[in-house]
Amino acid sequence: MDYSVLEQMPAPLLSWYHQNRRILPWREHPLPYPVWVSEIMLQQTRVEAVIPYFERFLTALPTIADLAQAPEDVLMKLWEGLGYYSRVRNLQNSAKIIVEKYGGKIPCDYDAVRALPGIGDYTAGAICSIAFGLPTPAVDGNVLRVLTRICADAQDVTTAKAKNTFRDLLRPLYPSGQCGDFTQALMELGATVCLPNGAPRCSDCPMQKLCRGFLAGNAQEYPVKPPKKARKIEERRVFVILSLDGLLLHRRPKKGLLSGMWELPNVLANDPLPFSLPDSPCDLLPNHKHIFSHIEWHMSAQALTLSESFVPPKDFEWVTLSRLEEEIALPGAFTQYRREAISRMKSFTI
Ligand code: ADE
Repeated sequence: MDYSVLEQMPAPLLSWYHQNRRILPWREHPLPYPVWVSEIMLQQTRVEAVIPYFERFLTALPTIADLAQAPEDVLMKLWEGLGYYSRVRNLQNSAKIIVEKYGGKIPCDYDAVRALPGIGDYTAGAICSIAFGLPTPAVDGNVLRVLTRICADAQDVTTAKAKNTFRDLLRPLYPSGQCGDFTQALMELGATVCLPNGAPRCSDCPMQKLCRGFLAGNAQEYPVKPPKKARKIEERRVFVILSLDGLLLHRRPKKGLLSGMWELPNVLANDPLPFSLPDSPCDLLPNHKHIFSHIEWHMSAQALTLSESFVPPKDFEWVTLSRLEEEIALPGAFTQYRREAISRMKSFTI
């Protein structure tokens, strides 16, 4: 495979970036802590969705020491709606290590950054190039799309080998003094011009004259990936159970999907609830689907209003309206049912 075309990429790409980059809150003064927070938020979430979360997070926890000490519920509340909550747990675990081991400052060293929890090759490369100006490539799916199109490279991009190949090819191309811009220019081209799903905007692309995919008329055929495995589908029954003590919530186990998070009680469609409920009026609520990365929940739901409360079993708790609204983060899967629960609690009379 001939990758020499990549050598001609940095100059036109940087000049395009300087004229076309979006102004983003973590971009203008790329200090290590905000850059790190932004990269973790951006791991599974789009830029527009991240911006308000990023600003609120840094206002609430302006330093790494603040993050290290934040109570878990505060942290979860700041992350509520972003999903993939292990990201914020890792962020805090890393903050504790940074405080204990590095005096509260992110170390200016790729291997030390890469060793922190929740930081892989991509994020370490992004942080070190953007915040420290090091020549450390950050190659994710978006960057692989740009590079395989430019090189007309049909290798399977889902392999570690593809990422390693392009990291090795990019490293010597990093322009001294502009390492952060180079990383972000590749990301920006992928996000705004070299778009996925067969829709690249080649007429706006600074790489048009070089891009082997464009020149061959088939840029949209890259990147090449093997077919995806179908997600597992789970039929779940969700319960909005109200009493004068509030809404019944369950704390999920520490391991696995949505580890340690609060949720509305729910069971696989054919399983019983792990406790028995007194007879009470019951309304069916609309069905909802929620898609996680490897699993889909197809949810049916019912709301029950108990005239008498009961002592909740282990890992269940009655939660008041104000606690639900101000302190408790519920996973996005339950957003509609949470809204329904809140509206019922507000008009609750027995
Ligand atoms: N996606 C991942 N990191 C990013 C960044 N720093 N700017 C814009 N989009 C990104």
